[in-house]
Amino acid sequence: MPGLRAPSDYSGEPPRHPALKINAKQPFNAEPPRAALVKSYVTPIDMFYKRNHGPVPIVDNINSYRVSIGGLVKEPKQLSMDEIRSLPKYEVMATLQCAGNRRTAMSKQKTVRGVGWDVSAIGNGLWGGAKLADVLELIGIPKLTATTPLGAKHVEFVSVDRCKEENGGPYKASIPLRQATNPEADVLLAYEMNGEVLNRDHGYPLRVVVPGVIGARSVKWLDSINIVEEECQGFFMQKDYKMFPPSINWDNIVWSERRPQMDFPVQSAICSLEDVDFVKQGRITVNGYAVSGGGRGIERVDVSTDGGKTWVEAERYQRSGSQYVPEVNGDKWAWVLFKVEIDVSDRAEIVVKAVDSAAGVQPATVEEIWNLRGILNTSWHRVRVTNSLRAPVSQL
Ligand code: MTE
Repeated sequence: MPGLRAPSDYSGEPPRHPALKINAKQPFNAEPPRAALVKSYVTPIDMFYKRNHGPVPIVDNINSYRVSIGGLVKEPKQLSMDEIRSLPKYEVMATLQCAGNRRTAMSKQKTVRGVGWDVSAIGNGLWGGAKLADVLELIGIPKLTATTPLGAKHVEFVSVDRCKEENGGPYKASIPLRQATNPEADVLLAYEMNGEVLNRDHGYPLRVVVPGVIGARSVKWLDSINIVEEECQGFFMQKDYKMFPPSINWDNIVWSERRPQMDFPVQSAICSLEDVDFVKQGRITVNGYAVSGGGRGIERVDVSTDGGKTWVEAERYQRSGSQYVPEVNGDKWAWVLFKVEIDVSDRAEIVVKAVDSAAGVQPATVEEIWNLRGILNTSWHRVRVTNSLRAPVSQL
């Protein structure tokens, strides 16, 4: 694609905030410290996790950049940024979460393959751009209505970045046509993040944002969009980001037996404390995030100080000043931040679990959801605190 190209090495990477914790250098994968996540409802761009599979593409000339739309369409088209910007602009508050969030903790149960992440492979952004449903309408694909026939067609997004998993080919993924053409699914071709032009790490000049779905489907550095008969056959749809049961290992795995993961399940984590933290005995405030996929709001956030025997309910909030009521005034694709004051004695195991609007609840242990790729660790998040420097960590 003219205007946008994939470098073959990492010499042209963009600058990044020094406070990010680097989980892999090349390709660049980094997350902010936990505490940075709960400082604001909207995650600042420089504190937003970066998840790349190759060198970050370079835009040589934005005026010659075009995104091509083709596949099963009568008239393929190439759209410039001006044409995309001329469509109605939407701003969607949506949490992006990598399926590998909290993988490091899963690997402590039993080894998994993949980049390790603490609890911060997640961020809440205000994404600005055109709705994919409006873009598809331009090439003669009507919006979803009650009478749209059921169909298995997918919309495939192809990038320009070169990934070793694709044997040097581009990153790609797809979503069902029904989701792409549904204006209420809020799928965006985004050119802005938090009111600013998208930066290079996050997909400049144009990326897909699929709210409520694992981050892997929100393709960055968009090169082309194809209407295809069935889901994308690329590596990241077919041989990755699938949820297998704990009994499956690298010797008996049959990738085609499971479907690509799309919506993410209910998730929460404590961000104001590290895994083993020293705190003064008495009252402390515990903060964190809770989120669910598919537009399901967060119904409840429960916090325990005794490892999960008893619970208190935390306060939930979204944009400042408003009392959060899911499905009434909530940002349906966005996380809630939570806050609760608790009393801790000399040592405690603090646990959080969230419940979504479908009464989906996080599993108690990582054991029951362990999977060889280490995705979707949504087990209760536990941190241990003590006020005694003398207590050996193993006894906490
Ligand atoms: N798109 C391209 N082209 N290349 C990538 O490596 N990574 C995906 C997705 N889109 C990726 C991509 C994954 S796994 C995630 S979690 C999100 O982008 C991360 O988006 P972010 O780096 O903007 O936080």
